[in-house]
Amino acid sequence: MTHAIEARDLRRTFQVRSGLLKRTRKDVEAVKGVSFQIEQGELFGLLGPNGAGKTTTIKMLITLLLPTSGQATVLGHDVVSDVREVRRRIGYVFGGDRGLYERLNGLDNLRYFAELYGVEARDQKRRIGELLELVGMAGREKERVEGYSRGMKQRLHIARGLLHDPDVLFLDEPSIGIDPVGARELRATIGGLKAQGKTVLLTTHYMFEADELCDRIAVIRSGQIVAEGTPNELKRKVSSGRVVEIETYGVTEEAVASAGKVAGVRSVVTEERGQLQVLLVQCQQDTDPTQAVLAGLGDVRVGRVNAREPTLEDAYVELVAGATG
Ligand SMILES: Nc1ncnc2c1ncn2[C@@H]1O[C@H](COP(=O)(O)OP(=O)(O)OP(=O)(O)O)[C@@H](O)[C@H]1O
Ligand SMILES: [Mg+2]
Repeated sequence: MTHAIEARDLRRTFQVRSGLLKRTRKDVEAVKGVSFQIEQGELFGLLGPNGAGKTTTIKMLITLLLPTSGQATVLGHDVVSDVREVRRRIGYVFGGDRGLYERLNGLDNLRYFAELYGVEARDQKRRIGELLELVGMAGREKERVEGYSRGMKQRLHIARGLLHDPDVLFLDEPSIGIDPVGARELRATIGGLKAQGKTVLLTTHYMFEADELCDRIAVIRSGQIVAEGTPNELKRKVSSGRVVEIETYGVTEEAVASAGKVAGVRSVVTEERGQLQVLLVQCQQDTDPTQAVLAGLGDVRVGRVNAREPTLEDAYVELVAGATG
């Protein structure tokens, strides 16, 4: 079967001008040779810190930006030489609430875009009805968009992106700025797209969201992919052992450093939680250095100690911090 999306050594450089008097030009390499394949029906996550190159990658795949070099195809169609066919088969949604007509109601917005995307007149009504249902906006479509909350606008955007029934969807931070309940509903909507057989490429900064939704994930850092796999593979790859959380009061830097040297400990980071400093101890596989670490802390007051399985966030933090020893 043709891959839904294939990127081969994609690169994109931007020329940025800086300086007012002495004009200088500088090349910024936003994407530095990215390759991946996404199968049809897969929900694929692209994760990475701000400025990593996620949006730039997506813009090349949806034909809004030309690659500096490399190739990419969507459902077998080249994103540079076959723009029309690519655009016909894809939908995209960028996070944020702009791009809708505020003075029109939700229904008229969707009618307008349906017209623009060439949805047949006889299909429009049924299609719009289905989509309002899918994104949980049925019943609110006669209200003006200016009165919608951010989350409602975001859902209307997703409906807009689906009007022409695309096979492949690009969702760039769709849940940004949405409250927890709205975000949960949105996750259900995104999961529903997968259930319909759509291919989805998703970016998000919420790790639990990626963990819950994605079949596979690529982590991108400074324009390059640094890890790829299922959420579970990523968790195992970077943090093979368990994570022990130790609550302390007034732990010193020296004590933290010495805890990091205990046998069986991969790394220790401290997290401030109110009055507490919580030591997050990444253990090596099949070891439990908890007692040795506690003994090494000396006089420090210790609160709760609890061991847990590593989360995707643990893995992500280790990957993007570059501390994959
Ligand atoms: N039009 C542009 N002109 C110049 N530089 C750009 C342009 N677009 C992106 N960049 C640069 O390319 C790099 C990657 O940006 P990009 O928007 O792809 O990151 P991102 O991973 O989507 O980040 P975020 O999580 O913040 O959305 C950044 O250094 C950014 O400043
Ligand atoms: Mg972005």
